[in-house]
Amino acid sequence: MNAHIRFDRDALELHLLDQRLLPAEEADFVCRTPAEVITALQDMVVRGAPAIGVTAAWGCVLAVAVADEDAGWQERLSAALEHIARARPTAVNLRWAVERMRACWRAAGELSRAALLERFLREAQAMQDEDVAACKALGRFGAACLEDGDTVLTHCNAGALATAGYGTALGVIRAAVEQGKRIRVIADETRPFLQGARLTAWELQRDGIPVSVACDNACALLMQKGLVQRVVVGADRIAANGDAANKIGTFGVALLARHFGIPFYVAAPLSTIDPQTVDGAAIPIEERPAGEVTHMGQRRVTPPDVPVYNFAFDVTPAALISGIVTEAGVLRSPYGPAIRAALAESRP
Ligand code: MRU
Repeated sequence: MNAHIRFDRDALELHLLDQRLLPAEEADFVCRTPAEVITALQDMVVRGAPAIGVTAAWGCVLAVAVADEDAGWQERLSAALEHIARARPTAVNLRWAVERMRACWRAAGELSRAALLERFLREAQAMQDEDVAACKALGRFGAACLEDGDTVLTHCNAGALATAGYGTALGVIRAAVEQGKRIRVIADETRPFLQGARLTAWELQRDGIPVSVACDNACALLMQKGLVQRVVVGADRIAANGDAANKIGTFGVALLARHFGIPFYVAAPLSTIDPQTVDGAAIPIEERPAGEVTHMGQRRVTPPDVPVYNFAFDVTPAALISGIVTEAGVLRSPYGPAIRAALAESRP
């Protein structure tokens, strides 16, 4: 896959592979302003927690690039950064990324706009590169949790498209395949946005990793038939106690995995862990437009005026998680102390 998040330094443009169009069409959505980046995040041109974070970092770069350096430009820039941080509520990587750009700004001190732009370009590129490295590292740790011949069920898309590259849940699968293990994947279709059917299936097929798509509501039957040996999913925010928010439907998969005695892993970089959020109940759950549920493409599938629920995420309690796969290793229960230790070690 060509870089799906690519910053053109000469033109000061952010090129995002438009994930709304996949798998039918591969076309870029080009952002020249922070407002366009916010649109890209909210409309899910780009989605997936780490990819959202990296995109937000480039959005901060664009905020500096378009700033008018007159009186009050720093206050306006600060407000623009805050707007980016609020684009979507659940994936903590978004605020994490913006706060890291703010920290870079603070460390730089008083600078001209041009000098700050240089700093921001370096920081955003570092974040993009570090995310790929984190995915590869967690993939290697997670691969040890998979056995040759396993079929792994995953929910949503936690692949290269959802990160700066390589993926979290799909990073674990890719690493296992690179180690020579024969792994098959079942991708839940992931209603309503179909990240599994459209994106996970597209990514894995391109890599030659055997993948089948199943309706979300087939999960119990597939497990009952013995067709699933492991579950690996990503996360949008992991609370201090290990409760993990991920795409709506993940909690149900975890409950079924527990019922059938199937190990259930969450794979995420440390940037997805939010030590400020004490537990899952404190994680904000995004509600998305009703049209995602009432329509399939242009076609309405529900009667007019019937209200819908469109919560985009749910929270899997830590007690249902067999391990949290990070670039610092596979964290095991009790997650509170394991998370604290991993975060403390990762900080310089
Ligand atoms: O609404 P989305 O598509 O942004 O939700 C994405 C997910 O739930 C992913 O599983 C999660 O962000 C992990 S991505 C490595």
